[in-house]
Amino acid sequence: MNIDVFTLFPESFEWFVSQRHVGNALARGSRLQCVNFRDHTPLSGRQVDDTPFGGGAGMVLRVDVVDSALRAHYGIDPVELRVKRRVILLAPGGRVLEESLVDELTAEPALTLLCGRYEGFDQRIADHFASDVVSVGRYVLSGGELAAMIVCDAVLRKLPGALGHEHSAIEESFSAALHGGLEYPHYTRPAEYRGWRVPEVLLSGHHERIAQWRRERSRERSEDEATNADRGSRSGG
Ligand SMILES: C[S@@+](CC[C@H](N)C(=O)[O-])C[C@H]1O[C@@H](n2cnc3c(N)ncnc32)[C@H](O)[C@@H]1O
Repeated sequence: MNIDVFTLFPESFEWFVSQRHVGNALARGSRLQCVNFRDHTPLSGRQVDDTPFGGGAGMVLRVDVVDSALRAHYGIDPVELRVKRRVILLAPGGRVLEESLVDELTAEPALTLLCGRYEGFDQRIADHFASDVVSVGRYVLSGGELAAMIVCDAVLRKLPGALGHEHSAIEESFSAALHGGLEYPHYTRPAEYRGWRVPEVLLSGHHERIAQWRRERSRERSEDEATNADRGSRSGG
């Protein structure tokens, strides 16, 4: 997987790439590169944004700056680029990132992520350069960097060898192994703490009963979540 992140703050990713699972993915052939919009701006003084037409607060990332950064990096017109490669503009109002979208992105050979700041992007960037507009949730972050890390994390951890324990990625919430449902609860030592006992079945060593218990808890949790989501949507949440 080749990921390019276009950002005004490439240094934000230093912590992210130092994480073990990211390092594992990179050591196995994936690549994560940050490109600073400012390094390719055609404007003087490393300018990248401007005040919004029509007035209002904040600064808007300019279309000519993003055009120039994408063109410099890929050597083609960004209008053509988005046909050949997933170019994902991060925005609060985009398609919300869910497991199905993560699977879709993981299957791609390469991704480009565009991180906004301040008021966000000139709309023509979404209209003409992006193949997708993706949101990491229906709330507003201060910049696209955390959103890009969420996308990268969700994708990279799915690649073979990224996680130390391969089984962790097979049987977890939303996986096919759990029929898209939530994972069952986990417990570890001590078996009793402040009078709170771990369910006896987990201490029994009886694999079939443990598997059965986990399937039931997974189903219960998933049903509860579906009920809560339904309540939330009916109350406008
Ligand atoms: C302060 S936000 C801009 C918000 C924009 N003015 C609005 O009201 O929708 C700055 C940047 O952070 C990123 N961002 C903020 N929240 C996000 C979210 N929930 N998902 C993805 N990106 C987000 C986007 O790249 C956005 O351009």
